[in-house]
Parts: sequence; C-alpha cells; structure tokens
Amino acid sequence: MPDFKNIILNLKKDNNYRNRVTTESAQDSLIKVSGKILNNFSSNNYLNLANNKKLKIKLKKCVDEYGIGSGASPLISGYSKAHESLEKRITKLLGFESTLVSNSGYLTNVGLINAISENEITIFQDKGNHNSIIESSRLSKTKLVRYKHLDYADLEDKIQKIKSPTKIIFTDTVFSMTGEQADLLKISSIAKRHKALLFIDDAHGFGVLRENEKKFPSSINHLNLGKIKIDAYVATFGKAVGTFGAFVCGSKGLIDLLIQKSKPYIYSTALPPALVETTLESINMIMDDKKIVKNLYSNIAYFKKLIKIFKVNINNSNTPIQTMTVGNPKEVMDICKRAKKLNIFIQGIRYPTVPINHDLIRINLTSGHSKKQIQSLVEFLNTIK
Ligand SMILES: Cc1ncc(COP(=O)(O)O)c(C=O)c1O
Repeated sequence: MPDFKNIILNLKKDNNYRNRVTTESAQDSLIKVSGKILNNFSSNNYLNLANNKKLKIKLKKCVDEYGIGSGASPLISGYSKAHESLEKRITKLLGFESTLVSNSGYLTNVGLINAISENEITIFQDKGNHNSIIESSRLSKTKLVRYKHLDYADLEDKIQKIKSPTKIIFTDTVFSMTGEQADLLKISSIAKRHKALLFIDDAHGFGVLRENEKKFPSSINHLNLGKIKIDAYVATFGKAVGTFGAFVCGSKGLIDLLIQKSKPYIYSTALPPALVETTLESINMIMDDKKIVKNLYSNIAYFKKLIKIFKVNINNSNTPIQTMTVGNPKEVMDICKRAKKLNIFIQGIRYPTVPINHDLIRINLTSGHSKKQIQSLVEFLNTIK
C-alpha cells in the first residue's frame, strides 16, 4: 500500500504541495476569496463571458426548455438537438467535415488518442504539451516520442529516425503555461515531408487568436488552414467561450470512429443541453461583437507597454497568458501571497506542471480587466523584478 502520508510530507518538504483556493463569487475580473474582493488574473475566462449577463439569461431560458441534466450518455439518450446544432455550427465555422462535442478537453484528448490507438502508431509531441495530450499517449498503445519544446530541428531529427507505419505530430497551438505559440506552418511542412498526420489542441487559441481583426478571431484563419492540413482539431469551451465542454473536428471518418470508440464519449453522461445551447450563443456573440476580442488585445497591448516602461522581466508572449519565471517553488508561492495582500490574485505554477527550476508566475489577462487593474498588477510585478 502506498505511504500516502509520506508522499504528502515530501510534497510539502519540496514546496510542491497544492492547496485549492475557494472562490466565493462568479468568475469575473474581480473575484471574492475568503471574503476579500481581488483583482482576478488567474482565470482562462479570456473574453470575460463566464459571467456575461446575456448568456446567463440565455442559460436560464434554456433550462426552462431542456431541464437541468442530459440524463444519459450520448449513445443512449443524452444527445439532443442542442448538441447536434452546436456540432453543425462549429463544422461550418471552422471548415472541417465533421465535429464531435464532448465533455471536457482532457477527456476529448484521452478519447481521441485511445480510439485511434494501435501499436504501430507513434505520436510526436512537444515537451511543453498540455498534460492531457501527454497522458493520453501514455494511457494508450501508441508510442510516445517527445521533442524539445518548440525545437523543430529536434522534431525533424526524431521523426526521420523513428520507423513507424503511422506517425502523428500533436501540438498545443498556445502553450497553456507559457502563452508561447507553436509554429504551425513549420510543423505542417515537417508533417508533409514525413507523411505524418497533424493533430492540434487549440484550447487557448479558440476564440482568442486571429489572423486579422475583421474575421472571426479564432476561425481557422489563424491556423492558416489554406496552407496547412489539420487532421484533428481539439478545443474547449471552458476558456474563451466561458462555458464548459470541448470538441474535436476532423474528417467524417475520424468523427464516426470516435462515436464508435472514444470511451470517455461513450461511457459518460452527455453535457447538459441547456449549457450546450448557451455555448452556441456565446460563440455567436464572439463572432458578432468584435469589441469583445478587441478589448482583450487592447489589454494585452497595455500590459506589454507598461512592462516595457517599468522594465519588468516578463517572458515573451503575444497571448493573454503572460509569465514571469522565478525558478523556485517557495519563492513563487510567497510572491502570490504577497500579491493577495494587495488584492491581486495571481497563481504560481510549479513542478511537475513546469520543469524543475522553471517555477513561474502565470498571469491571465482578459477583456474584462480595466486599465487601472492592469496598472496595479504591473506596479506589483515591478516590486519583484
Ligand atoms: C491545451 C489544453 N488542452 C486541454 C485542456 C483541458 O481542457 P478542459 O479544461 O476542457 O478539460 C487544457 C486545460 O487547461 C489545455 O490547456
């Protein structure tokens, strides 16, 4: 029997023991924790839609129509008109052949990799990929090969050395802990040269990234679909869209296979239809109201401007995820405690989420932050540079 007590003691000794923060209000740019209102820089609610008035009214209306729960897994009776409409909408929006709406990004990756898993498949993954992708490979019969973070020479070297009848490259588009972006054009040309499939996880890009301001922010435009071929596209609703759940797009064949073989999909209760319909409303809102995304980019630009003025040492990122490397787990958590005293809610990210000695402060900017909130954050960061 594992020595639970000792495992916990060791985590505490290494400053890697995690505590949950109990929030007492809705996710918004201000959040209540332990009775105190804090400026919230710790949420993936990039477009500030998780507490949006119009979406809350929509959800209430949908609950009146559909009730609360879906009552069953999708292949029994949990798949509703709402699920079908959302799938059709996303398919059209992103230009794939088909879409499957599922319960969470984590489970979508587990289901995807396990459903296609055969001994002869090798999956090449960036070392910085989200845990759900790495762990999905480990849980499957596929062979996992990890290349150095954002190092495409290393990817090319590994992909040409390793013999496998089926090769897949799987990468995050926006790396969840650093906000860095993968070079999809480069990756796709490597995939083409080595006849590999390309799978991407756009959890932090969907609804946020854009190729140009006029088009839907995260339409496949930002992924250069005209120039690259994506064989599976995964994204989630729990971040920019502000609701919950996830989806995968691909060919009709892939989606049909997932319906037959993705175990988290087949054996888990479907998402509540009221939430699914609200998700569709949220996506429409992002498309129709360009101001929502514009505000986010204006806040990112303002943050970066202040950082430059104050000469604060922040890692390079053009996304709402901004980080400061501290490199010590105790120090990183002490900084977060100090921030809380000044009503600033930021989170420290420690091993194993990031490599040892790469502990960092992760800041999430949203379209809901005011310039004043951002200024107070940068003034605090300036005290720890
Ligand atoms: C890249 C990536 N994929 C998947 C997930 C999991 O998504 P979900 O929260 O919907 O399970 C996350 C969550 O942070 C993520 O960053």
